[in-house]
Amino acid sequence: MAAPWKLRPATPDDAPRLAGLKALAMRPDLERIGRWDPDRARQRFLEQYVPANTDVIELDGEAMGCIAVRPEPDAQWIEHFYLDPALHGTGVGGEVLRQVMAAHRDARPFRLTVIGGSRARRLYERHGFAHAYDDPNGIDEVLEAAGDGGYLLANAQAEAGRRFGALAELFDPGTLLRLAALGVAPGWRCWEVGAGGPSVPAWLAARVGPTGRVLATDIDVSWLPAGAGYEVRQHDVGAEPPPGDGFDLIHARLVLVHVPQRAAALSALVAALRPGGRLLLEEADPALQPLACPDEAGEDERRANRLRHAFRSLMAERGVDLAYGRTLPRVLRAAGLVDVAAESSFPFGGAVSARLERATIEQLRARLTGSGRATDAEVDAHLAALDAGRLDIATAPMVSAWGTRP
Ligand SMILES: C[S@@+](CC[C@H](N)C(=O)[O-])C[C@H]1O[C@@H](n2cnc3c(N)ncnc32)[C@H](O)[C@@H]1O
Repeated sequence: MAAPWKLRPATPDDAPRLAGLKALAMRPDLERIGRWDPDRARQRFLEQYVPANTDVIELDGEAMGCIAVRPEPDAQWIEHFYLDPALHGTGVGGEVLRQVMAAHRDARPFRLTVIGGSRARRLYERHGFAHAYDDPNGIDEVLEAAGDGGYLLANAQAEAGRRFGALAELFDPGTLLRLAALGVAPGWRCWEVGAGGPSVPAWLAARVGPTGRVLATDIDVSWLPAGAGYEVRQHDVGAEPPPGDGFDLIHARLVLVHVPQRAAALSALVAALRPGGRLLLEEADPALQPLACPDEAGEDERRANRLRHAFRSLMAERGVDLAYGRTLPRVLRAAGLVDVAAESSFPFGGAVSARLERATIEQLRARLTGSGRATDAEVDAHLAALDAGRLDIATAPMVSAWGTRP
């Protein structure tokens, strides 16, 4: 049975006990690098201890560890994460880290420092941390994990609603034609994966009528109204089994590209179709056409392209496959589908593309500037050029591919 531990806010009185725990917990690593000095370890803890940032890990009323989260504008730093060696290997450390990250999650990444070669690194890797940079002190390494569970354009921000509106205006006409051509009809059972906004599930619900069924899933369902003729369920297509089987149609647009486990997710989608069921996948391929302004006529266009490049590098850092779209017909065939076909296009120019660009850049502004990829002045100049209607904005090409489960 798991140890009956709990987290409670730290107080100034906890300082001596936690300083002692630090010395105990850090001893193996500090001895390994020849810097074991228990008094110095305790002293440094006392100098840096901020009770308001710290939680105590308590077991049977006794302080057995602590963890702190220090908020900075560009990141949340996890620090002073120490456990009594008696709790090492019990799973408590992993569960503490999971709970604390869940409680603090927002758009900022999490960062922490480990001593090079520390065994703690494995625990952090299991929670999504990866090497960010080596500390200039030559001993420590800084690890970073996404703050929003990995999805760069998290739906919780207000800009997400505007992005979904623009995506629908730009891409629904083609999507709905393809869905109609695939035969969606009264009585069909459909699954809209990573639905984002309501437009596609609402169209499907109207099409399948009262004898059909439409399930719309997303990791964040806050933009999907309940009671709109389709079922809504929170679901992570990369981590959970499909929410049903025997579907006549499954559709995902701009979703798998964001899912690190996209190959396994695709296999699960195919398995959730009935024999004869149809899969329509529509995914971007930013590497196929990387420019925001293909006609680079002046500084406004060059700046737009620099910002698009910065946006792409943020996506790549999060595990987005920037060349996924082009692989779709091949991966659908490899997954066992037949009658596979595909097409690709991208919107170019117009007010809706400019609106999508504005919403995306505003949503990512803190990430772009916080990571040093762009300055506030560049972002402001880009938004002004967009508002003035001076830019013909292109999106990444969308590859749509479909097939039938034999
Ligand atoms: C770019 S939006 C596309 C939304 C909609 N499909 C469209 O084309 O307008 C990506 C959507 O995928 C969702 N998403 C990202 N990762 C997901 C995952 N692992 N499981 C389910 N949905 C996910 C996001 O929350 C977001 O709503």
